[in-house]
Amino acid sequence: MKVAILGFGTVGSGTAEMLTKNKALLEAHAGEEVEIKYIVDIRSFPESPFADRIINDFSVVEKDEEVSLVIEVIGGAKIAYDFTKRALLAGKSVVTSNKELVATYGAELLALAKEKDCYYLFEAAVGGGIPVLSPIANDLSHNEITEISGILNGTTNYILTRMFSSGASFEAALAEAQAKGYAEADPTADVEGHDAARKIAILGALASGKMVSSDAIHTEGIRAIRAEDVAAASKIGCSIKLLGRYLRTENGDMFLLVAPFLLPADSPLSGISDVYNGVLVRGNFVGDVMFYGRGAGSEPTASAVVADVDKIARGAAYRPAFIVADGDIPTEISFFRTRRYVVVEGIDASAVEIIFGETEPLSSEENAFLTAEMSEKGFKSRVARLEACGGKVVSHIRLYR
Ligand code: HSE
Repeated sequence: MKVAILGFGTVGSGTAEMLTKNKALLEAHAGEEVEIKYIVDIRSFPESPFADRIINDFSVVEKDEEVSLVIEVIGGAKIAYDFTKRALLAGKSVVTSNKELVATYGAELLALAKEKDCYYLFEAAVGGGIPVLSPIANDLSHNEITEISGILNGTTNYILTRMFSSGASFEAALAEAQAKGYAEADPTADVEGHDAARKIAILGALASGKMVSSDAIHTEGIRAIRAEDVAAASKIGCSIKLLGRYLRTENGDMFLLVAPFLLPADSPLSGISDVYNGVLVRGNFVGDVMFYGRGAGSEPTASAVVADVDKIARGAAYRPAFIVADGDIPTEISFFRTRRYVVVEGIDASAVEIIFGETEPLSSEENAFLTAEMSEKGFKSRVARLEACGGKVVSHIRLYR
């Protein structure tokens, strides 16, 4: 099987290295040799051991009937979209790590792959090296998936971990993540939760068959989390994690959201630290299943890319069925019920009690407390009452359950 790699960056070079180093292993599985025929990049890499295969023109790949599989690791949803479509139209299967492309055009590209009798697989787009999409789509597909909750972004998990271990502020922990090369120079997509939103949109689509635009998902990042919140969480034995969540209620309602949550120490996701990712999947027969591993980086991501190459090579590929379904999975979360950690100022404890009912006070330095369980709508209306009394919510974080 001859393959072409599009993009020779972090993931592309890791993939080329793995296809070379583990060639014999892959061949033993696939029953045939998997050979890199081309690597397409706008740059040239004269010093690379793959220099003889690096070309600049994608149309060479497109026209080469010998190439049956294209590995798209360019990223973004512009050139990558054009090349993926052209590869599929030419009858070539495509494997990718591109979560933005899958979250935006996944349904369309999967339909095209089916029409052309080839495959579009994207294990590496969620959870880096962790095999999580294939188990959900294959081994758990006969379960009704009632919950997927995941720590899906390594950068923010590193920042939050540092805030807990060193008491650092968000800004200081972010600067540290950037210095270590974990966070991008522009970390917006990570810290604002957009990266996690794309990943939970893909996970939710696998569980439900319905794809919603990640832009429509209620998304809160971690920028507003203060060192004081971290101290209060520690005091009650909780961690704070940015979670992407897909939930299906007993009456069949589904919804998606991305937000920081307080996690009690006994929650299986609580101990997942540093740049690691973790995904909890709950099925109606299997119960809880946990996936844990490296969510980013050249080698882990390459491992997931090559897992899909291997599946296609040995005829074990699957077809995730996504239907574009904006509106079918509610992204408006007014009925979602949780307890909350809340910090207020400008009103006294008796006013808090009148507005929030019974609460659990948390701190003597600040007016911080845990509320009883209430809906998003109920919380919003209480905040409006509090503001009408001259008060202000300084911070609030949902409690995981
Ligand atoms: N920026 C992402 C993260 C990379 O920090 O998890 C992997 O998708």
